[in-house]
Amino acid sequence: TVIPRVKAADATEASEGPVLVKGWVRTLRKQKEVAFVQINDGSNLGGIQCVVPLSEIDEDTKKELDKVSTGCAVVIEGPLVKSQGGKQAVEVTANKLKVVGECPGDTYPLAKKRHTLEYLRTIAHLRPRTNTIAAVARVRSHLAGAIHAFFQEVGFVYVQTPLITASDCEGAGELFRVTTLEMDKISDLPLKKTEDGKGTTDEIDHSQDFFGKPAYLTVSGQLGGETYASALGDIYTFGPTFRAENSQTTRHLAEFHMVEPEMAFADLDSAMGNAEQMLKYVVKHVLDKCQEDLEFFSKFYDKELIKKLEALVEQPFARVSYRDAIAYLQEEIAKDPSKWQFPDVEFGTDLSTEHERWLAETKFGSCVFVYNYPKAIKAFYMRDNDEDGGETVNAMDLLVPGVGELVGGSQREERLDVLLDKMGELKLDPEDYWWYLDLRRFGSVPHAGYGLGFERLVTYVCGIENIREAIAYPRYPGHAEF
Ligand code: 4AD
Ligand code: MG
Repeated sequence: TVIPRVKAADATEASEGPVLVKGWVRTLRKQKEVAFVQINDGSNLGGIQCVVPLSEIDEDTKKELDKVSTGCAVVIEGPLVKSQGGKQAVEVTANKLKVVGECPGDTYPLAKKRHTLEYLRTIAHLRPRTNTIAAVARVRSHLAGAIHAFFQEVGFVYVQTPLITASDCEGAGELFRVTTLEMDKISDLPLKKTEDGKGTTDEIDHSQDFFGKPAYLTVSGQLGGETYASALGDIYTFGPTFRAENSQTTRHLAEFHMVEPEMAFADLDSAMGNAEQMLKYVVKHVLDKCQEDLEFFSKFYDKELIKKLEALVEQPFARVSYRDAIAYLQEEIAKDPSKWQFPDVEFGTDLSTEHERWLAETKFGSCVFVYNYPKAIKAFYMRDNDEDGGETVNAMDLLVPGVGELVGGSQREERLDVLLDKMGELKLDPEDYWWYLDLRRFGSVPHAGYGLGFERLVTYVCGIENIREAIAYPRYPGHAEF
């Protein structure tokens, strides 16, 4: 008969016969009569305790037991029994034990218990074996699943937009260029001949590039998303995005993931409503499914975490116009400008994290949408506000306590003439966007959407400080080891 395998997370009741437990040893404690082997198989935080009755096991198992050390991979066989004392409901009485992969304690970096998160980043391939990074991975997986579940439930079509693109959606010039190995050095690129015959790197002959023109890693799936929303109504993307931002902050990565819904026949208000509904849904899902991990995070990282997450689910998000937000900030800063890193705030200021966090944490004490931003600091595709003296666009950011900006979105400019004027002002070549402009020529419709930074959401929900712990292999300036 086949012995069934049981994962630690599912071991809740005593079993009829023996089961198999497969995982990695966290700790080994030998006493006279019994040895306690704590096994972790990744399915939960606590793992499962295996009790080896030393007088009852065969010679093979005795020899195997001598090879056991922290980090080694084992298969254990025996019945699940009610736990005598201890934290867990059941434990395994280990009649047989086999070491599948040994783990020498003198060289294993995790043999010692406590490590800083900074050190763990240098062994990113081993750090998922620690409680923190494993818990982040489980919560992250549940969040991703809940995001898909939400959008599927409300009838949005999942679209995968390309990662290699010719357009700079945000117009911020933070693109990674994609080239082939032969052409990876700018100096090797075929040069256009200048009159003196030397050639210039300003005018690279892109006809010889792999794609016949410069290509980049996408900074956002939005433009492709808009094309599908203009056919399928409501869509969302959820995939990797890339930005060559030279920022060494706890909130920026060069490679991150974005959730980008796009809705036809929708305005800015519906985008804000959808973002609020979606966030509440996914946070509630995690509160239900990841209790053990969230309790761990609140114990070691943020005492207020669970209260904070419950408040997000229950409290309506605040909404404030950019103009009013600026007025509130000015009033507050005037009290004591020396307390602020960026005390100069006026209409047109791109809010910094310090401003965003004050608004969310102090002024409103909740998630807050700031909407109607000045045209001058926002992207070309955002819809001009017809009111408001033509100075603002229908854009919004969702600011979250402890994080700052979590979501950025807008209603899109659906009027061809207005969009062409805007592109002209920004010196964007309409020929590069002919397909995007076609959407405004053929059955154009008011539409809106937003982008949610997935790693920022993971950081927030786990109550951790740094976005570099929210992704398996963080990429930031100077760091792409694997
Ligand atoms: O505000 P952003 O730049 O908006 C867009 O890209 C739009 N095209 C989205 C849309 O409307 N479909 O980025 C959206 C979100 C930000 O609010 C932030 O949470 C996250 O993406 N983000 C980053 N996260 C980690 N590292 C970075 N370098 C990020 N840049 C943006
Ligand atoms: Mg933004």
